[in-house]
Amino acid sequence: MNRLLPAPTARLRFREMTPADLDDMAALLGDPEVMTFYPAPKTRDESVEWIERMQERYAIDGHGLWLVETHGGEFVGDCGITWQSYNETPVREIGYHVRRGLQGRGLATEAALACLELVRDEFAPTLLTAIIHPDNTASRRVAEHLGMTHIADDHAHPWIVRTVMGVTVEPQPSN
Ligand SMILES: CC(C)(COP(=O)(O)OP(=O)(O)OC[C@H]1O[C@@H](n2cnc3c(N)ncnc32)[C@H](O)[C@@H]1OP(=O)(O)O)[C@@H](O)C(=O)NCCC(=O)NCCS
Repeated sequence: MNRLLPAPTARLRFREMTPADLDDMAALLGDPEVMTFYPAPKTRDESVEWIERMQERYAIDGHGLWLVETHGGEFVGDCGITWQSYNETPVREIGYHVRRGLQGRGLATEAALACLELVRDEFAPTLLTAIIHPDNTASRRVAEHLGMTHIADDHAHPWIVRTVMGVTVEPQPSN
């Protein structure tokens, strides 16, 4: 599988996460505030599994959640594209987590826009989704900045009805 990577942005660059990122990823995924809309913050062992799962996704799908850092190498979080499903329909989904100290500066939107452009280059025309906890307003705002609108409700989740945001990503018009 061709391993993909979004282009760098004004403030951010992407790379595949590795076991050497465990301290940063465990701090991110273990932060109760970042994980408000998950069942619980992740333990260090669960963060090990998270990194392993992403490494499998890079190898099998060519994409996953990538590690996001500043051009100076400061850890920001993760952002990328994974296969998910809603109402049993498989879809590509964009995901993002930004560490608490760097939230509110437009970094998730900036990273997500780079991922959208990668989807456009590689897969368009295609549906891109963000499957969101109904109370996760920040995540919904990022999705709206990508041009997504509320396209469905996911009833396949065991205990919440999730909001499915989506946009059809069209190919770049050729000149
Ligand atoms: C969602 C998340 C990645 C956004 O990161 P960020 O870098 O702060 O995002 P941005 O600065 O690009 O934009 C955030 C938007 O949400 C809004 N926002 C932030 N916190 C908010 C809150 N508590 N309530 C309402 N809106 C909020 C901001 O005002 C901004 O909207 P605007 O551009 O219209 O003003 C970050 O909040 C996060 O890591 N959350 C926890 C992880 C998560 O839930 N991820 C999504 C599920 S995969």
